[in-house]
Amino acid sequence: MKNTIIRHISSHSPEQDIIDEAAALLRAGGLVAFPTETVYGLGADAINPLAVASVFVTKGRPADNPLIVHIARIEQIYELSPDVTEDALTLVKHFWPGPLTIILKASEFIPRIVTGGLDTVALRMPAHPVPRALSLKLTHGMVGPSANISGRPSPTTAQHVLDDFSGKIDFILDAGPAAIGVESTVVDATVSPPLILRAGGVPREELERVIPGVHAAKAHHHLRQSPGTRYRHYAPRARVVLVEEGSRDVFESLLHRCRGQHLNIGGIIHTAAWESLPEVSEIRLLRFPASEYPRRLFDSLRKLDRLGVDVIIVEAVPEHGIGAAVMDRLRRAAE
Ligand code: TXA
Ligand code: MG
Repeated sequence: MKNTIIRHISSHSPEQDIIDEAAALLRAGGLVAFPTETVYGLGADAINPLAVASVFVTKGRPADNPLIVHIARIEQIYELSPDVTEDALTLVKHFWPGPLTIILKASEFIPRIVTGGLDTVALRMPAHPVPRALSLKLTHGMVGPSANISGRPSPTTAQHVLDDFSGKIDFILDAGPAAIGVESTVVDATVSPPLILRAGGVPREELERVIPGVHAAKAHHHLRQSPGTRYRHYAPRARVVLVEEGSRDVFESLLHRCRGQHLNIGGIIHTAAWESLPEVSEIRLLRFPASEYPRRLFDSLRKLDRLGVDVIIVEAVPEHGIGAAVMDRLRRAAE
């Protein structure tokens, strides 16, 4: 067991002594959880294969699911990839720093354990100053998958990280709840037009505005191109059931079925459609506007788990803008 240290750090102007302390741990091969604008990440030195291996082991992550390399300077993209495409530069110009991850051909020196054996690498320059400050302290950036046990809902607070990794990692930097709450959009820029491999913080509509023809990968593409999308994900211990927005009948019959089996029920909703049902008082109901789903979804799933519910009924949100990323996570959680 390790002694996991949590340090508060400012998200506007990170304290240099805390950055130095975390960077020293990273350079020594340690694991440091860090905040980003999307979700918390589990950091390690990208060119230290042993440190990267311990990220996989600690998360229980399959070895063929590659990691994102977080960088701090735009020039690093040329160091990490020998083939920076025009489309990649357009994406960088419009969306970096920010919640966008770009896939490019990988430089030879990037350990293959980082790329899960692929010849491509995922690069991201976060908007959050903390991961940028940490990446600056490493020669070739910091790997950072979401800081959750593989398959569990992603962490949007330092407490979520502690819940999954207490005693297993060295250090957690706590800069408060993540501002966006769902992960970065992953775009493959090795092909033209680029392919969206994972919906995320930058909506498809915004990508299309700068690169017309950008589109989401079909299911079989997902399998080949973004190994991560193959596994069950974002799942709390409770079973997740997704129901259409405002569908009172479906909700009611689900409720009856669950009660018949003496199951404890939780709900995440945003319309008022279900509130007048008499049975609703028996369920743990979390209600907030659809616009708050991205920021609160993972926390809500974890919260309902802690309350010991068996089933979580979730009301769907409209699938545009960042709603597409939310629905993607919900579908996977419900699989
Ligand atoms: O917002 C985020 O992206 C967060 C924060 C911490 O930066 N990180 C994150 O990492 O979500 P992770 O490991 O949980 O998800 C990375 C996704 C996975 O689906 C993985 O399969 C995909 O990116 N990926 C990584 N490298 C890839 C590559 N070379 N080709 C295709 N997909 C790749
Ligand atoms: Mg993840």
